[in-house]
Amino acid sequence: MDTSREEKLAAIHAGIRVCTRCRLHETRTHAVPGEGPADARCMFIGEAPGAREDECGRPFVGMSGGFLDALLAEVGLSREAIYITSVAKCRPPSNRNPRADETGACIPAWLHDQIALIDPEIVVTLGGVALKALFDEDVRMREVHGQVREQDGRRWLITYHPASAMRFPEPREGMREDFRKLAEMPASRDAPPGGPSSVAGNYPRVCSPASEEEDAP
Ligand code: URA
Repeated sequence: MDTSREEKLAAIHAGIRVCTRCRLHETRTHAVPGEGPADARCMFIGEAPGAREDECGRPFVGMSGGFLDALLAEVGLSREAIYITSVAKCRPPSNRNPRADETGACIPAWLHDQIALIDPEIVVTLGGVALKALFDEDVRMREVHGQVREQDGRRWLITYHPASAMRFPEPREGMREDFRKLAEMPASRDAPPGGPSSVAGNYPRVCSPASEEEDAP
């Protein structure tokens, strides 16, 4: 286990929890920095916390998180080996999409440091908001999902957001297909060197089930 990397990630998380760089801090309960091994070989990047995540301070603990866990299990992957975060760390009011100035403040302040520190081999972008914020592309997910792009020395797998895959058959099948592809990539499967270790917050590990309406996006 790389203690210095864990400490640095914990410091980034601490900074995110008190961040006031955009208006979303005014309405959040908890910022949601992300969680998973500081040396994860695979990172997931979603959109923004929903109601349950805001309540718990943890990513993907609402209904779409349950769907994500089930999909991972279906292809034999373990959430514990993956670092999970989002392009915006605070919940937008009424689950609206995060705005460009909000992700524009958040990504360079925090996500870039998270990626540089964790240094994953594979990054999976979940949904159109993450794709737009990271690649500046307004495209139909059905046209780009499953693409694996090489950028900055990593592979980026483009897929749907679990909240839409949970609700609609076409994204569901598409996301399944993409996760089968992900499971074929060794970096998604292997535990990080040194065994599993996790950097999380001092928040409840168990959150009560969320209603569909409470879930982002
Ligand atoms: N949706 C996201 O994109 N991120 C979360 O953390 C939760 C729901």
